[in-house]
Amino acid sequence: MRRHIATSVLMALFCTHSLHSDPSDQEPTITNCDLLQSRPRCGLELNSMAVRYAKGKLSVLNQQKLPLEEEWLYPETPEDMVEIITSLKVRGAPLIGISAVLSLAQLAEKGEDKETIISAAHLLKNARPTAVNLATCIERVLSSMEQSPNFHEAIFDTVSNIFLEDIDLCQAMGEAGASLIEPGENILTICNTGSLATAGIGTALGVIRVAHEQGKKIHVYACETRPLLQGGRLTAWELEQNGIPYTLICDSMAASLMRSGKIDRVLVGADRIAANGDFANKIGTYSLAALAHYHNVPFHVVAPYTTIDPQCRDGSCIKIEQRKPEEVRGVYGSFGNIRWSPEKAPVYNPAFDVTPSDLVSSYILDVGVVSASDIPSAASKL
Ligand code: MRU
Repeated sequence: MRRHIATSVLMALFCTHSLHSDPSDQEPTITNCDLLQSRPRCGLELNSMAVRYAKGKLSVLNQQKLPLEEEWLYPETPEDMVEIITSLKVRGAPLIGISAVLSLAQLAEKGEDKETIISAAHLLKNARPTAVNLATCIERVLSSMEQSPNFHEAIFDTVSNIFLEDIDLCQAMGEAGASLIEPGENILTICNTGSLATAGIGTALGVIRVAHEQGKKIHVYACETRPLLQGGRLTAWELEQNGIPYTLICDSMAASLMRSGKIDRVLVGADRIAANGDFANKIGTYSLAALAHYHNVPFHVVAPYTTIDPQCRDGSCIKIEQRKPEEVRGVYGSFGNIRWSPEKAPVYNPAFDVTPSDLVSSYILDVGVVSASDIPSAASKL
């Protein structure tokens, strides 16, 4: 991965310059120190669109407030970060893992002892259950601490590698996936899988972005993604930032669009891929896969190897996060609390669903475009 670091730095710089509400925007973002990987002498500095770290200061773009307001949060403790992750102020499988380990880097920068950092790691690991990236990132840091005589330095190195690697993984998925896309395609997607969900250009949205940059003149249908509207708020915002033509739809509109032949391909992200290719992703993904199958529309999962859980045999092992009823009784979190249902209406609110592998046309991974039987070997880096 080291050979890709220059690309990563350019991407990090690009991402940083696309938002201007934080005064630290004016500061140089990635220094020559990072290029030389000579931490901790120079201090750890990492920048993406939604999360930044410099000299112990962690800045998180509050995704609950987007796109109406660009507010930055400055967590100081692992407890602050747990609240930010559980309330989805930071979200997306790769980015929650990265944010959690940045919180550990912050503790290391404060010179905290090993026991304190290990107990924070366990607290952060349990903040959300479905996306495996959170647990994988935390385990990577814990194991590097065990293997190094200087555990603070091990944390800085591992966190930096996780962050920069994610940028490269996104680019690799973007290029692999874009090779499948024909000029003029209409692509359907759900949730937010872009620069707000990763350290780089994203997973499914990264593919869309590369295809757009290649001049393929694509058009995106973005599902609004009830109940928390990651599509309507975040994907629509990112598509506009990147000048990609799109149409926002309610989730229930996908079926009629497919029936009328208006969708050429479905691209979705993943929060956990089991060894047999079954995968968890945002609630509503399974409906799209079943619809795509019925209408003969290619359906692809876009994810880095860090989203594969080889210990999980099939989709039945994936724990699905259940969220508050208020999110379904009305609008909760992003725009204040508005209720339209009866006050005590019984609610079913799983944040994710599981799609069986036989509905997936192919998996667009960082190693390339593969089938379900290739999933275990794609995870060999874990
Ligand atoms: O609940 P969220 O917003 O964290 O859910 C995010 C998704 O389901 C994404 O599709 C997934 O993380 C993969 S894309 C990076």
